[in-house]
Amino acid sequence: MSKVVVFDHPLIQHKMTIIRDKATDTKTFRENVNEIGTLVTYEVTRDLQTKEIEIETPIAKTKSKILAKDVVIVPILRAGLGMVDGIQKVIPTAKVGHIGLYRNEETLMPHEYYAKFPKEIVNATVLVVDPMLATGGSVIAAIDRVKKAGAKDIRYVGIVGCPEGIEALQKSHPDVDIYMVSIDQGLNKIGYIVPGLGDCGDRLFGTK
Ligand code: PRP
Ligand code: URA
Repeated sequence: MSKVVVFDHPLIQHKMTIIRDKATDTKTFRENVNEIGTLVTYEVTRDLQTKEIEIETPIAKTKSKILAKDVVIVPILRAGLGMVDGIQKVIPTAKVGHIGLYRNEETLMPHEYYAKFPKEIVNATVLVVDPMLATGGSVIAAIDRVKKAGAKDIRYVGIVGCPEGIEALQKSHPDVDIYMVSIDQGLNKIGYIVPGLGDCGDRLFGTK
């Protein structure tokens, strides 16, 4: 069974309050989602493998460590895009794949409309990124798709989840560890997380 890691760092909690608040404007919301992306990346990548190489400082030859594997970020469009810049701030060499999914508002089933991945996805550590884990349908479908593209080492990075989504994701992909900031109470009748932060894509891009 995969592990679920919930971040309780005070800086992240502070930014969570800002993005949960419905009075927060689009610019501030986007900035804080990105900053949360940067902060969570430290923990998500804590156990990445390193390898030793020989380099020369201005003074002497020495051995020093670099990441052993590529990192590929796969945001789920649209809301996942909100965390990419923040993650790339600390992993600037990460390549980015994209997967476009939207939930059918009645059935809540995800519909794929776009997918493009870098070739490195096969051997990389892949971070599938979506701030919201509601029913889990979108993240499960995205992970199905990256596995089909050859990805083997996958982590899910989100912000707000709920027990229903976590259970569904663990059942479908027990090999994928889950990293998020908050496990909220659950889903309302129309599939929104309670208390959540509303429609993340709309709040990031000002479409509502
Ligand atoms: C939202 C969100 C997730 C999905 C979560 O996307 O960004 O991708 O819903 O719900 P689920 O866990 O029940 O699948 P949405 O379909 O609203 O598309 P958007 O990001 O383009 O607005
Ligand atoms: N998608 C969102 O953006 N918010 C939710 O609460 C659920 C799905």
